[in-house]
Amino acid sequence: MKIAPDELQLLAGFVHDRSGIVLDSSKAYLLESRLAPLVREKNIASYRDLYTHALRDAELANRIIDAISTNETSFFRDQRPFELLKFKILPDIIDALSSRPGPAGKSLNIWSAACSTGQEVYTIAVTLHELLGSAISQYRIKIIGTDIADSAIVQSSRGVYSQFEIGRGFPQNLLRKYFVADGTNWRVRDELRAMTFFRKINLLEPFGSLGKFDIVFCRNVAIYFSQPNRKSLFERIAAQLNPHGALIIGSTESLFGVTDRYLRREYHNSVFYSLK
Ligand SMILES: C[S@@+](CC[C@H](N)C(=O)[O-])C[C@H]1O[C@@H](n2cnc3c(N)ncnc32)[C@H](O)[C@@H]1O
Repeated sequence: MKIAPDELQLLAGFVHDRSGIVLDSSKAYLLESRLAPLVREKNIASYRDLYTHALRDAELANRIIDAISTNETSFFRDQRPFELLKFKILPDIIDALSSRPGPAGKSLNIWSAACSTGQEVYTIAVTLHELLGSAISQYRIKIIGTDIADSAIVQSSRGVYSQFEIGRGFPQNLLRKYFVADGTNWRVRDELRAMTFFRKINLLEPFGSLGKFDIVFCRNVAIYFSQPNRKSLFERIAAQLNPHGALIIGSTESLFGVTDRYLRREYHNSVFYSLK
């Protein structure tokens, strides 16, 4: 079913208001291809009707956002951020924490904002295990993954991945150390799962209740947002970072001209941000 220009405008406005995702008129095909299965499943006559139903039906509204959001991700995506994490950011933060007395010196909070189906979260957990080895038991580590898409949070929490998903970036030599075979799939081992938590969070809405973080990954989500929403997002993330904290954004992203709350830092040609 073809989407008419006025239907495109209605649905693009709906998606923008609810998620921040900007869809311009060139995205007609994307809307059609992602929403057509929902229109068929719900037996809805037109895209206009889909829009009017969604205004009154929260479940349908969630399904629309879920269908429109691009969940593309992979284990060790772009690789460099995880080398940066292992060789620079974590050692620096562990040093900063060790100067703090008491249990605060051994707790580490990490947030993967817009974690999609969880690969980023488990990659961070594996990186921590590989760096700290058996000393990991001395730390209270919490890695929280959040996303707006219900289906992404369900898969993240299950921690079960197909051979194809594993093949996209997970190192073969570490596979059995961190995953167990589950039929034709792979399930993350309990020691990784114990460090991880998942919650549905819309980044347009307040997230102060998540608490403070030492490290925030916010990669490949703000690219879908308007400039004001991007600015607001990174400034609200700044308010959640501990003073020694680090922010990692996507490899094609930059905070130049977005906000001046951060200091751009480089380590071996990899970029991360700390608070000014
Ligand atoms: C391309 S994925 C990025 C996943 C991961 N961070 C990475 O770089 O591999 C973008 C994710 O942003 C999520 N997303 C889009 N709008 C969002 C919003 N307003 N709040 C939270 N998550 C959002 C989507 O559901 C999707 O899972």
